[in-house]
Amino acid sequence: MRSIFAKLTIWFFATLAVSFAAFMVTNIWFTPRPADPRLMFMGLHQLELDTAVEAYQQGGKAELRAYLDKLDRYMTPGHYLLDANNRDILTGEDRSRQKAAARPRSPQQAFTSADGRFTMISTAPPRPDPLSFLPYFSWIAILVALMAWVFARHLAKPLRELRETVRSFGAGELSMRTRSRRHDELGDLARDFDTMADRLETLLTAERRLLQDISHELRSPLTRLSLAVQMGRTDTAKQDIARLSELISELTDMTRAEGDPSQRPTDPIDLSAMLKEIQASFDLDASIPEGLHCQGRAVLLRRAIENVVQNAVRHTVGGGRVVLQAEAAEAGITIRVRDFGPGVPEAMLAEIFRPFFRVQADRSRDSGGVGLGLAIAQRAIRLHHGSLSARNAQPGLEVTFTLPH
Ligand SMILES: Nc1ncnc2c1ncn2[C@@H]1O[C@H](COP(=O)(O)OP(=O)(O)OP(=O)(O)O)[C@@H](O)[C@H]1O
Ligand SMILES: [Mg+2]
Repeated sequence: MRSIFAKLTIWFFATLAVSFAAFMVTNIWFTPRPADPRLMFMGLHQLELDTAVEAYQQGGKAELRAYLDKLDRYMTPGHYLLDANNRDILTGEDRSRQKAAARPRSPQQAFTSADGRFTMISTAPPRPDPLSFLPYFSWIAILVALMAWVFARHLAKPLRELRETVRSFGAGELSMRTRSRRHDELGDLARDFDTMADRLETLLTAERRLLQDISHELRSPLTRLSLAVQMGRTDTAKQDIARLSELISELTDMTRAEGDPSQRPTDPIDLSAMLKEIQASFDLDASIPEGLHCQGRAVLLRRAIENVVQNAVRHTVGGGRVVLQAEAAEAGITIRVRDFGPGVPEAMLAEIFRPFFRVQADRSRDSGGVGLGLAIAQRAIRLHHGSLSARNAQPGLEVTFTLPH
């Protein structure tokens, strides 16, 4: 606040000084002026001189004195009429020095008649003392400082609030937001911070939960493994080792897909060909049009689709079929995988995309996987700027991929 206030005050004063200077310069340059500044007062001087000469010629010195007294009284003291020899007509004093001192801008002014017989000397009023403007300028200074202060407060308050929020957020209070309602750039900044904070909070919370899930998932096979080793049961040990290494490679895949830029979508993919290969290897019912293409990483995309197909195959009961269906539309490519199994309880439809989430029945089932398949698929599809969703098709589950062309 202090430094913003100081800067603003200096800035305001500088602006004021510059605008004053600019005003003066413009004024001097653009105001039409007579070639000789005396011209402005020429008429007045001429009139004074004519009247004085007239008074002198008609009423002699008495008349002249009366007229000059009047001038001294009404204008400024110091009016004299001189003859051709620069002598004061009233007193006879030599006033050639005063006449010589007369300059266009000096207080002494001299005006000589056309025939050169008379000269009128007058004294201009004293120039105003520049210090007399001081009270006026101090008023302006106080007002400017006040305005700078108000403006500085207006700027500094939201900045201070933003700073406090950023600090608390940095200290770990992930729920801190500015919730600014300002419409200026400071408001934009605050809102951008809020958006960033939202994203960071989601990410950090998700990563934290993932870590908890991972340690939880690792614990049971490890316990079983150590028991199996103690009891010398190689089969169980082998099974658990296989499960652990599967878990670890899936986790690595999931993390790598997001973190490694080289895994980002780049290559052109012949989607029709890929889907046909999947159809063949899983023996699916399918409708796949020719000529489906998209951009991306073929390996990631294939694993994503295969993960979903594997789920469908696993959950299909009693010789039911799994249907793979693809189509291209304006908005993008849609791929649907549908089975005729039990589906997923409606409340858990969004949950199945979470890492390690499994519907209760699948936790106890031997066939159950790690619970990472859909999470990995979803991350892969998001990397391709697409989306993944699931709905109960009654019977069975239908999982839909959408991908941009
Ligand atoms: N086609 C489906 N029918 C019914 N439930 C399903 C279906 N697909 C997924 N689910 C449920 O969603 C859970 C999560 O699926 P996901 O693919 O992520 O994990 P998983 O298949 O259990 O393990 P993984 O794929 O890692 O081997 C499954 O455990 C299951 O409960
Ligand atoms: Mg799966």
